[in-house]
Amino acid sequence: MSGIRHLVSIKDLTDKEFSILVDRAEYFKSIFKSNETNEFQKNHLKLLGRTIALIFSKRSTRTRISTEGAATFFGAQPMFLGKDDIQLGVNESFYDTTKVVSSMVSCIFARVNHHDEILQLCEHSSVPIINSLCDMFHPLQAICDMLTIKEHLDYSKNKLKVAWIGDANNVINDMAIACLKLGMDVAVATPPGIELDQGIVNAGKEISERNNTKLTTTHNSVEAAKGAHILVTDTFISMGEEYAKVAKLKQFKGFQIDAELAKHADPNYKFMHCLPRHNEEVSDEIFYSKHSIVFEEAENRLYAAMAAIDVFVNNHGNFDDLK
Ligand code: CP
Ligand code: NVA
Repeated sequence: MSGIRHLVSIKDLTDKEFSILVDRAEYFKSIFKSNETNEFQKNHLKLLGRTIALIFSKRSTRTRISTEGAATFFGAQPMFLGKDDIQLGVNESFYDTTKVVSSMVSCIFARVNHHDEILQLCEHSSVPIINSLCDMFHPLQAICDMLTIKEHLDYSKNKLKVAWIGDANNVINDMAIACLKLGMDVAVATPPGIELDQGIVNAGKEISERNNTKLTTTHNSVEAAKGAHILVTDTFISMGEEYAKVAKLKQFKGFQIDAELAKHADPNYKFMHCLPRHNEEVSDEIFYSKHSIVFEEAENRLYAAMAAIDVFVNNHGNFDDLK
């Protein structure tokens, strides 16, 4: 493998690097929303005349829009390559596709099925790979979520508890690691028979020891929600799991975040969700309540994508100059 730095999971970054990445997202948000944008862009169109490829084998609203917007912000042309657009998987191998695409673009954002596909891309690509969701991780979502928590509850000043009530999936895998790295406690409640990945539990323990944080897992949603400053969930049926829908929905009975469960959280709790959302995981009453920050969270995906391009493409994964 070359010396190129890729963004595969938050767990591959040091605590400091991850904190810098979130700060970069915050910085780009302030630039983008201020009148300085034009001045900034004139000096920072670092990718003018370049392309950024989005190899997406699954649907996307937020990740696609934010990545295309972020590429444009730096002057690059985003190039969306959906599963029906290119030869990959039908006429051409992963290896050949990776070699060819990476020879012509500055960076590849990839949304794939299996984690192993991200690793293969990293192995054979001549440009940075940004994991844009696989079955194990969703690092761009975690950057955005940490920025959103920072804005609303400031984890650098307050000891926060984040309660995840839902599936043990790609989103919580990176989110748990992200929270622990930034000093928050995490409680994960899943139905019996669904357990947080052991690798995440082990990594979480190691991070918690140095950061004085706590990762707890339970099958009791009330226990997880107790005193939480953030209640968060995601779909119970991730993309690619549609075949298991009936059985999983049965398994998740009683795991909806509703007003009854929210009574156990801190009175000023916030509700988060990466979206897209379905009624079974959160009631309308909570999703559209004053506690819900889901739409600000969605907007922050744009700044997370900007931070990822800036760090991994513009700065070649070198965090030293960004401290
Ligand atoms: N949160 C998220 O990744 O949304 P999309 O699937 O719409 O990109
Ligand atoms: N866990 C969900 C996240 C969607 C953004 C999925 O993988 O489909």
